[in-house]
Amino acid sequence: MAVENIKKYVFGNPLNTGAVVMEVAQSSGNPEGLSADQAAKELKTELSKEAFVYGLGETIRGINKRGWLYRSNNADEPHHEEGKNSLYASHNFFIVDDGNSCIGYFIDHPGFVEFDIGYTDKDLFTIRFNDFDFDLYLISGKEPNEIVKNFRELVGKSYMPPVWAFGYGQSRWGYKTADDIRTVRDRYKELGIPLDMIYMDIDYMQDYKDFTVNPERFPDFENFVKEMKEDGIRLIPIIDAGVKIQEGYDVYEEGVKGNLFCKKEDGKNLVAAVWPGKVHFPDFLNSKAREWFGDKYKVLTDVGIEGFWNDMNEPAIFYTEEHLKEVFDDIHDLENIELDIEGFFNLTGLVSGIANNPEDYRRFFHDFDGVKVRHDKVHNLYGFYMTRAAGEAFERIAPDKKILMFSRASYVGMHRYGGVWTGDNMSWWSHLLLNIKQMPSLNMAGFIYSGADTGGFGGDCTEDLMMRWLEFSIFTPLFRNHAALGTREQELYQFKDSESFKNIVELRYALIPYLYQEFTKAVENSSMLFRPLFFDYRDDSRCREIEDQLLVGDAIMIAPVYEQNKTGKYVYLPEGMKMLRMRSYNDYDAEMLEAGDHYVKAELNEVLIFIRPGQKLPLAKPARCVDELDFNDLSYIS
Ligand code: GLC
Repeated sequence: MAVENIKKYVFGNPLNTGAVVMEVAQSSGNPEGLSADQAAKELKTELSKEAFVYGLGETIRGINKRGWLYRSNNADEPHHEEGKNSLYASHNFFIVDDGNSCIGYFIDHPGFVEFDIGYTDKDLFTIRFNDFDFDLYLISGKEPNEIVKNFRELVGKSYMPPVWAFGYGQSRWGYKTADDIRTVRDRYKELGIPLDMIYMDIDYMQDYKDFTVNPERFPDFENFVKEMKEDGIRLIPIIDAGVKIQEGYDVYEEGVKGNLFCKKEDGKNLVAAVWPGKVHFPDFLNSKAREWFGDKYKVLTDVGIEGFWNDMNEPAIFYTEEHLKEVFDDIHDLENIELDIEGFFNLTGLVSGIANNPEDYRRFFHDFDGVKVRHDKVHNLYGFYMTRAAGEAFERIAPDKKILMFSRASYVGMHRYGGVWTGDNMSWWSHLLLNIKQMPSLNMAGFIYSGADTGGFGGDCTEDLMMRWLEFSIFTPLFRNHAALGTREQELYQFKDSESFKNIVELRYALIPYLYQEFTKAVENSSMLFRPLFFDYRDDSRCREIEDQLLVGDAIMIAPVYEQNKTGKYVYLPEGMKMLRMRSYNDYDAEMLEAGDHYVKAELNEVLIFIRPGQKLPLAKPARCVDELDFNDLSYIS
């Protein structure tokens, strides 16, 4: 690795976040192009008129981040709207690129960071901190792909999932019994739609307690896991961060006894509330607590479980005991007075501010392997370290096996232990487009095994949205249809044109050898599976502003349709390519298109794939699950 491409500057007394795996000698002086103002706790750089800013991983808005205020402050945020500043992750890596020269920055800081990218002043990029203690890495390279490679070598190899994790997964918050899950299996089977995973949301647990299975609703769980596996389906249970406070519950009792939970200033365990009611939070920043919690996954791997999703690990807090009491006291004070405008807003603010209250994140502490640190100072590491607990445990529990793992909250460094899903999106067309734009930024930060809730989590999905979303998600490594409790049911068998759904999912299975190969390359070469066009076509300035077409691996470009009632779209080709208009893996039109602008048709059941010159696209014969795919029996389209 060319460490000469990376310079490290240290400000204040940073904590070691665990993001970086490489020793880089500290540079002295000021980082070029950046001015640092210790008193104001700011870094500043000017943005030229031409400058684009790429990166920041999982965020809202576009691929070019210029013109908004982004905050690294991991949030349980179900409203992924344009006006928001934070989602579930903090990925403080970005590239400033003016088309000729570019430079990468990684700000390794576990607390709050604000990226004002031409928001306050359109020509200024200001980075603000609460605590001016961080490592700054300046990463050079001739072009963005090279900078990404250098950065990713700095932070270590991305997580490699088992190959079956490239299959299709069905999920829904609300599958309450083994029979509910059997129904999902049977309906998919009846229609012949491939399926590799059925996800188990919180409903499988006993009283929402981690590492328990409700024995009435899931009798003989071990045999149930076996039964599903015989049908080629793996069950993937959710694990939440909070541990229910309940006498007699072993996880709770061991955590208390071993001093493994997060503590308040007075040394008592913090009492917060999430799904199970009152919980304690394991102190994942402490290696002893990580080892203990990680070993708990064995309860489920012992009965045949091979994959998990870690949730609510920002951590999400419905309320803390202390804050809830304050709110009730304040409301009580307002009870018998006439509420004027101020009083009324005060009242509604008190209630809406109960969950995920910033004050609550200052109420508890970690034992960060010997250093007592207040939670808000390391807030963005919590989900990373929960997933690290699992990843480290899997190496002990099943060293020869790959276990599926992805998380909601993350920080750079977690990409070595698992993937991510992008959290609670909505069944909106705009969120399909957001999903498209998030993929390259996630890949830059090392999160290659990633994807969104296909069809949207909140709100009601329509058949056409599901179809178009599926047509994009067949390219994302994590390919999961997931929906919230109470929303319209959106399993593929709920809609009319099941034949087209089957064809699209089968196309995904046909693409798996290609996707797996390109995924592996991205992991091994520290490159990106999803790239904006401009990363590869540096001499074509038109490509700079294209954010709805992506390169996927080396051989193809995709141009998903993401608008309702559209049967075609404009595409721009930086060079001549063969266009495939695919209805299924073996039913498609092919047409050579010249470089330039084209209006191309794509009916609701048609996927557009463009093969780059000199490349060929391998396709397998679909199977009911990945284990039954023949990776050697491939046909090629060139
Ligand atoms: C959170 C997760 C969502 C899950 C729900 C219930 O909102 O993001 O995926 O379905 O919790 O567990």
